[in-house]
Amino acid sequence: MTTIVNADYWEALWSGGRRYRHLDGAEARLMDARLGAGRGRPALDVGCGDGSLARHLHHERGYRTTGIDISPTAVDLAASHDARPGSGPAWRCADITTGDLTALPDPAYAVITCRLVYRWMDDKGAFLSRVRHLLAPGGIFWVITEIAGRREDTDPLHSLGISPAETELLTSGWSSVQTADLDVLRCFALRP
Ligand SMILES: C[S@@+](CC[C@H](N)C(=O)[O-])C[C@H]1O[C@@H](n2cnc3c(N)ncnc32)[C@H](O)[C@@H]1O
Repeated sequence: MTTIVNADYWEALWSGGRRYRHLDGAEARLMDARLGAGRGRPALDVGCGDGSLARHLHHERGYRTTGIDISPTAVDLAASHDARPGSGPAWRCADITTGDLTALPDPAYAVITCRLVYRWMDDKGAFLSRVRHLLAPGGIFWVITEIAGRREDTDPLHSLGISPAETELLTSGWSSVQTADLDVLRCFALRP
């Protein structure tokens, strides 16, 4: 049976208590070194989940951050960490693939992050076009994803890795592509 990965799928996981790999110190240091200080510039975290990465960019790195996720429970969870409404990142519940991008707080972002999300985009080409549309000239698209072949075939999570063709699609057409590896993950810094 094929699982349909849509808004209901993600909402069921979040409301059922499913959580994802934590943003640890090593990953955060790698990201911080590539992205630099925010100095109030806008950042967008796509598929923000419970908002850890967006909060890191906002509170630790000085980006004016927006987190967007398709799951209402994830967005509520993210917002529940804010000391008071409006004190943290802006949170939006929307589908990045079909939502009205003009409804986002900023027309263009100095940084767009996408952690453990790219693998789930059905039409990756269309998704990447929308990201490019939102990225400011000179901006950085920071993608964290599993890479195929990093787990044993018997590992139930082995299908989380993206294929070489999906990697090629992700990395084509940028003026600069830098990568860094973290166990099963690869981080990509992509510049228009
Ligand atoms: C594997 S989780 C990763 C969550 C978070 N980025 C993290 O690192 O913990 C994937 C997230 O992407 C969100 N998502 C999936 N498809 C989406 C879409 N089309 N638009 C917005 N968010 C989406 C899901 O709701 C889920 O929170």
